[in-house]
Amino acid sequence: MKAAGTDASIVFDAVSLDLGGRRIVEDLSFEVPAGQFVCVVGPSGCGKTTLLRLVAGLLKANGGTVRYGGRPVQGPSQELAVVFQDYGRALLPWRDVAANVSLALEAAGTDKSARAGIIDTLLAKVGLREHAHKFPAQLSGGMQQRLQIARCLAQRPRVLLMDEPFGALDAMTRQSLQDEVVRLAEEAGTTVLFVTHDLEEAIYLGDRVVALRANPGRLADLIDVTLPRPRDQLRTREHPDFLALRHRLYQFMQEQH
Ligand SMILES: Nc1ncnc2c1ncn2[C@@H]1O[C@H](COP(=O)(O)OP(=O)(O)O)[C@@H](O)[C@H]1O
Ligand SMILES: [Mg+2]
Repeated sequence: MKAAGTDASIVFDAVSLDLGGRRIVEDLSFEVPAGQFVCVVGPSGCGKTTLLRLVAGLLKANGGTVRYGGRPVQGPSQELAVVFQDYGRALLPWRDVAANVSLALEAAGTDKSARAGIIDTLLAKVGLREHAHKFPAQLSGGMQQRLQIARCLAQRPRVLLMDEPFGALDAMTRQSLQDEVVRLAEEAGTTVLFVTHDLEEAIYLGDRVVALRANPGRLADLIDVTLPRPRDQLRTREHPDFLALRHRLYQFMQEQH
């Protein structure tokens, strides 16, 4: 699936953005190297969702450049998939689980005869194979979010943009989906830009954490997380480096209030 000559890296190079006459993002620079998992944290309203929209080609910077694969982002691309926080609204209620995944394949022009096999494999990956013929309203929140992820994976994206995707889930479901997304992204070599307001989630998942401050949104801290992989919900969260990073980020967030 790799497009020749491009790498799936994302670069923010001195990016500024105004909306409604107000500066939303100011002089923001950071990099998401290809194949890495980078988390963005920061207080509500600091511009996290806006960053994803810039990368997705839904907004255009007023200053600086957002680059994907070495080229300025010009508009939406099939190589990038977005997982929204509001999974309920991202699914089509009148299509069953399999048909919701099929949507991405139909959009990509995948041959009809190949679709059932791909859908089956994807649903198995996210633990929904037994629920292929249920409708979204019959699924728990965690299952709906799994379905949205399966649909994004069907697109075989080189980049996953995730906007607080587990915010509405209970702790156990959130942890199991965290591990699943890391595993699936590693398996496929996917670049992930993951927005969360949960500092521990950012450290647990990330190769790098980008911390923003608000009004306007700008870089406050950039942390390379060197915790060993595969990560483990118990051991990683008890690791002295995890606790040190948690301390550093909590202090930063305290200062924001
Ligand atoms: N279309 C828009 N027009 C004007 N202001 C906007 C628009 N979209 C977002 N904003 C403002 O930009 C700021 C950042 O929003 P957002 O990126 O959604 O923050 P976050 O996701 O970090 O909570 C907020 O103050 C929000 O009100
Ligand atoms: Mg947001």
